[in-house]
Amino acid sequence: MSDRGGHIGVFDSGIGGLSVLKALRAELPHQDFIYIADSGHAPYGERGDAHVLARSHAIAHYLIAQGVKALVVACNTATAAAIESLRAEHPGLPIIGVEPALKPAVALSQTGHIGVMATRGTLASARFRSLLDTQAGLTQVALQACDGLADAIEGSAQTGDFSKTIALCAQYTAAMGLFGSENGQIDTLVLGCTHYPFASSHLRALLGPEVRIVDSGEAVARQTRRLVGSEDAPGASATHAQLRLITTGQPAALQAAAGQWLGLSSSVEKLSIQ
Ligand code: DGL
Repeated sequence: MSDRGGHIGVFDSGIGGLSVLKALRAELPHQDFIYIADSGHAPYGERGDAHVLARSHAIAHYLIAQGVKALVVACNTATAAAIESLRAEHPGLPIIGVEPALKPAVALSQTGHIGVMATRGTLASARFRSLLDTQAGLTQVALQACDGLADAIEGSAQTGDFSKTIALCAQYTAAMGLFGSENGQIDTLVLGCTHYPFASSHLRALLGPEVRIVDSGEAVARQTRRLVGSEDAPGASATHAQLRLITTGQPAALQAAAGQWLGLSSSVEKLSIQ
């Protein structure tokens, strides 16, 4: 298969999936993408499975009607709640999901103690429980549901005021235990929500240089490349690739985040997707 002809659809509850889109554009620089931020129906993490399932199907229908050749669910919460049902409903379409990078974190940890920050929905899901059962082994895992953090990151992108994001990062990391490279300390932190990489500089400042911070963006991009194929050299310039940015909420957050974090000036379309 080739990456020519046909966009790849990517969606998240908001701007978080841009962290995955960034990795996808680096891995597949000539690939066209349609990105949907479902900000009008966010946050997903605190709204329950039925809502996330319904929204994931509505967005998948819209993207499939646009002719996408693959779908990337750039949201841990939506992957946990909906990926199996999306795959069952669209068996011919490659559908790639994102889940917390537990396996690499377990492999990286020297202290045998890792932390996972994610939404309440992700941590409560059967999919995450089974990941934990199969991957944690003897590693101790501190789980932290981060209510409000994705929302705060959305707000920070729009206003440039990161104080709420920083306060929540401080509160949640303190609740997990001591971070560091000494025995008994958490030396590896998994960002199990695609919004959180946009807070990683604040997390780094709070936790110090020796703590490893891992997310899933690059692994998702590599998996997408394996499934859709590509003639591109990773890292080539993406200047000729098309990108549509769509939001179901207010365009300002997506516009600002795409500019700040991906250096994109593409204008954002506002759509209602039911
Ligand atoms: N970005 C999403 C994730 O990866 C969820 C954020 C939200 O709660 O809407 O889980």
